[in-house]
Amino acid sequence: MTTPARAPDPAPDPAIVARLRAAGCVFAEDEARLIAEAASSPQELEDLVAKRVSGLPLEPLIGWAEFCGLRIRVAPGVFVPRHRTEFLVEQAVALAAPDAVVLDLCCGAGAIGAAIASRAGAGVELVACDVEPAAVRCARENIEPAGSVYEGDLYDALPASLRGRVDVLAVNAPYVPTDAIALMPPEARLHEPALALDGGGDGLDVQRRVAAGAGEWLAPGGSLLIETSGEQATQTAALFQREGLSVRIATSDEYDTTVVIATA
Ligand SMILES: C[S@@+](CC[C@H](N)C(=O)[O-])C[C@H]1O[C@@H](n2cnc3c(N)ncnc32)[C@H](O)[C@@H]1O
Repeated sequence: MTTPARAPDPAPDPAIVARLRAAGCVFAEDEARLIAEAASSPQELEDLVAKRVSGLPLEPLIGWAEFCGLRIRVAPGVFVPRHRTEFLVEQAVALAAPDAVVLDLCCGAGAIGAAIASRAGAGVELVACDVEPAAVRCARENIEPAGSVYEGDLYDALPASLRGRVDVLAVNAPYVPTDAIALMPPEARLHEPALALDGGGDGLDVQRRVAAGAGEWLAPGGSLLIETSGEQATQTAALFQREGLSVRIATSDEYDTTVVIATA
């Protein structure tokens, strides 16, 4: 299970701060504290700093990412949950009854599901799934035993008993158009799996498949929430409208993100 995020130790080593800053780490002091906290020996501290200075992303190095006030376990090769996705969690929690069945589809490390469950309460039945074995291993650490995590391609991973029972279906599937991946920051484009980012030519390939299956898994009156970009929002919404769901688009300036909410 996840643990609440807590403030790291004060007083980072100035020499480490200087090395991180020289390597381009904007929040060098915070990173120095977090790396020091993660290291269990001076040798490990040196290894972690050297890896960070060489450009490896912070979160897989220290083993966790902060998301909705929780420490979410992440590992190399697993998508690091983004703060903008906290908006999707807020929207989902607003729709989740205390005994809701919640599905985190394309769960990655399971951050969305873990955060919804921590906010919506112990009565929620939480299920998550992803196709990447490394992501599934992290999600199991973050979600079990409070929820169940399955491995496989979209809805194929799920137990048949879930069909028609999902009250809140939360999805952050890959939605970056293939050609736009080259424009992403190196920490994403070089260190996160293409499968976690690449949404195909128009970015909507996985969303199309999510939309096609949604009606079969949602409970009557259940809602699907899917993160998308501002530019793609109308197209994402149309995918779910075509499946007979009623759709609205929620945007947040604070989180700089867009979520399409489709209701059965
Ligand atoms: C953008 S990442 C988001 C992960 C997580 N939802 C989050 O917000 O932190 C997309 C995730 O979708 C998963 N994925 C991609 N294609 C999939 C598929 N066909 N079936 C299940 N999961 C898939 C990837 O492995 C990756 O973990």
